[in-house]
Amino acid sequence: MKRALATAGAATATAKLFADDHSSNGNHGRLSKGDAALLRFAAAAEILESDFWIQYNELGGIQDGEVSGGTGIPAYTTALQQLDSDFPQYIHDNTDDEITHFTFLNAYLMSKGAAPANLDAFRMLTGSTATGVNTSLIGKRLTNLTQLTVDTSWWTRYRSSANNPDLDPGFVFPQAVPGLFSGQFTAIPRTNADLGPPNHLQAIANTAGFHMPTIEQGGSSLYPSMAQRATSAEVLRILISIGPTETMHFQTWSDKAGNAPPLTDPTNGLVFPDLNSSPFGGETFQTNLIMPEPCPFLSRGLPVCSIIRPTETKGVAMGVVKFLTAMGLFMGQPPAFFEMLKDLAADADAAKREGPD
Ligand SMILES: [Fe+2]
Repeated sequence: MKRALATAGAATATAKLFADDHSSNGNHGRLSKGDAALLRFAAAAEILESDFWIQYNELGGIQDGEVSGGTGIPAYTTALQQLDSDFPQYIHDNTDDEITHFTFLNAYLMSKGAAPANLDAFRMLTGSTATGVNTSLIGKRLTNLTQLTVDTSWWTRYRSSANNPDLDPGFVFPQAVPGLFSGQFTAIPRTNADLGPPNHLQAIANTAGFHMPTIEQGGSSLYPSMAQRATSAEVLRILISIGPTETMHFQTWSDKAGNAPPLTDPTNGLVFPDLNSSPFGGETFQTNLIMPEPCPFLSRGLPVCSIIRPTETKGVAMGVVKFLTAMGLFMGQPPAFFEMLKDLAADADAAKREGPD
């Protein structure tokens, strides 16, 4: 299934083209099977990221020549701007970044004669039909932003000085917004009916405000986790050059999420708490603590360190697939979609760094 899709159509033609022309861009030599699998999984993750960031950009970003499609929803955009007046610009730039990530990764794979990631067969989800959406993409989405269950425990994980998921795999970090982790919520107006009442629309914008850093903290862990198993120095360079941009996104969104207005959605009871007041507040929740609190790293016998966490490499790709699936991001996709993602993840997780230590 995976091979059939990954090598379908244009990709095959391009791969053949590059296979005959290895020296043209200075790329000598082939990738190891493991390196190709690491990059291919990253490319698939970036395609998925791009798909939902494009949806955010159509409705709440800046629609221009760089990231085109959609005409925006003024009321939704205004609600997002309650979190930061620059929110539309940040959505636009994050979207642009993700598109370049998968485009580069796939082009690099093909330049080495390796198959790119291709999820086009699964562009079939409805998405928003609200006025402002890119109508030509209705029914052609890969990801679903309308039934999200958002795990906001990264908020307290990055504020903890005592626990690191790599050292404390069973530890449960508290949720910043417990309600978002116990139900299904939309992060974009599904139809024009979602534009009111005001606290419903603001809750949708707040959901987006927490969904964005939840995704980007995942990318912040994925790249350093995979990099530990790269064989070629150039593949390592790619992974450790893209990874920190995910972290730049994460910290930006983490800061914005802290500005989400406390409220209750009158249509479903979803509560966004005041994170600076009791029972929240303090080092675990305070909103301006956006830099990683130093925590135990590798061993409790060593001093605490300000780090990305987790970065355990074993099984990371499958972990990402499970995390995104549990989030509801693929709600509506057929079993073949999940099989393909699991295949890509299993291949990436089988990659081993080759050669001398
Ligand atoms: Fe990315």
